[in-house]
Amino acid sequence: MDHFRLRDGTLHAEDVALPRIAEEVGTPVYVYSRATLQRHARVFRQALSKLDNPHIAFAVKANPNLAVLKVLADEGYGADVVSGGELTRALAAGMKPADIVFSGVGKTQGELLQALEAGIGQFNVESEEEGDELAALAVSRGTRAACALRVNPDVDARTHEKISTGRRENKFGVALDRAPGIYARLSTADGLEMRGIAIHIGSQLNDLEPLETAFDKVGVLIRELRKRGCTVTHADLGGGLGVPYKADDFLPSPAEYGAMVERVTREWNVRLTFEPGRVIAGNAGVLLTRVIRVKQGSSRPFVVVDAGMNDLARPAMYGAWHDFEAVRPSGSTTIAHIVGPICETGDTFAMDRPCDELKAGDLAIFRTAGAYGATMASSYNSRGFVAEVLVSGEEFAVVADRIPASEIMSAERVPDWLR
Ligand code: LLP
Repeated sequence: MDHFRLRDGTLHAEDVALPRIAEEVGTPVYVYSRATLQRHARVFRQALSKLDNPHIAFAVKANPNLAVLKVLADEGYGADVVSGGELTRALAAGMKPADIVFSGVGKTQGELLQALEAGIGQFNVESEEEGDELAALAVSRGTRAACALRVNPDVDARTHEKISTGRRENKFGVALDRAPGIYARLSTADGLEMRGIAIHIGSQLNDLEPLETAFDKVGVLIRELRKRGCTVTHADLGGGLGVPYKADDFLPSPAEYGAMVERVTREWNVRLTFEPGRVIAGNAGVLLTRVIRVKQGSSRPFVVVDAGMNDLARPAMYGAWHDFEAVRPSGSTTIAHIVGPICETGDTFAMDRPCDELKAGDLAIFRTAGAYGATMASSYNSRGFVAEVLVSGEEFAVVADRIPASEIMSAERVPDWLR
């Protein structure tokens, strides 16, 4: 359920008519709904209510906007971060250091130090090498780093190959058969407090079965580690739950996910962490765009909008579907290609898409753009960075300024020896 609905023939975000935002802020612009974020955060928490004190760490990569993070911090969410930049954002948004977990295969020394100094709650160590490096850094600072070892369960998440992370050939985590040895050895390191196992097998999962298979493997590993005398008090089950991008997408609900987790982990006797991203933010945002012109194509019209693949990369990168709707639908529909202004054919949001009929100057939205939207934007074709707005009831605020192309250019220099 989201709060982007037609009211008197005009799409609103909560109580704000989208044309008002377009007029005041310009387009393209991402529009987020605070009430939707809150709702999703509460539904997900409720789905885990049978578990003993679960920890929920929002995957900041899905939407790192400070205002979005603040809404989630106010809901008691912590953060799953994958860079020093994300860590800085999570702290700036008011997330408690103890509620932050740090994932990622390529944490640099500088980032490890930054996180140690911030006193974050948990490092999800992705290799033996990283564990050794972190141990040495922690000792040099006179501290100990609480760690989970991320394992690669070799499970096919049955999602897009570019967002699948839990197969043997993927770069993430350590192979299950090597995990006990590595865990046992790192447990003896002075600078580390090895406390659990972490896992994340992929994103936009539309089936619980691969998750359950992967979690079962974690359960077996935990038993094996304890048999060897290792301490295991925590497990981080990652994120990955998919969201509906189309009206008829059938997806497991957070409640079904929660029930499965409760059943599978009943005997584990650990504190569980979750790292949801998309399921919290995806349907809490839309990309508002204006039609530049409608151009006759050989078979169908091209609706050329002012948002491009630089603003919303998912269709170009993953062939992803985003619903496309007029802000003031006239009632007549058509079949069209929806494209952006960028000079490559990949800048296509949809081909042969049944949609509202639109003309130059009309406003439209791409739905389900609250996760992996603005954060994946670029300035390709020397376009600026897209603006972001947060709506709450009748109020809205610009929560990220548009960064014009001229400002981006001002960071560049022509060296003297070229003059
Ligand atoms: N935890 C870890 C360690 C992750 O790598 C990810 C996502 C998450 C949690 C959150 O997963 P979620 O709950 O959002 O599925 N750009 C792609 C998605 C990449 C996801 C990467 N990792 C897209 O637009 O579909």
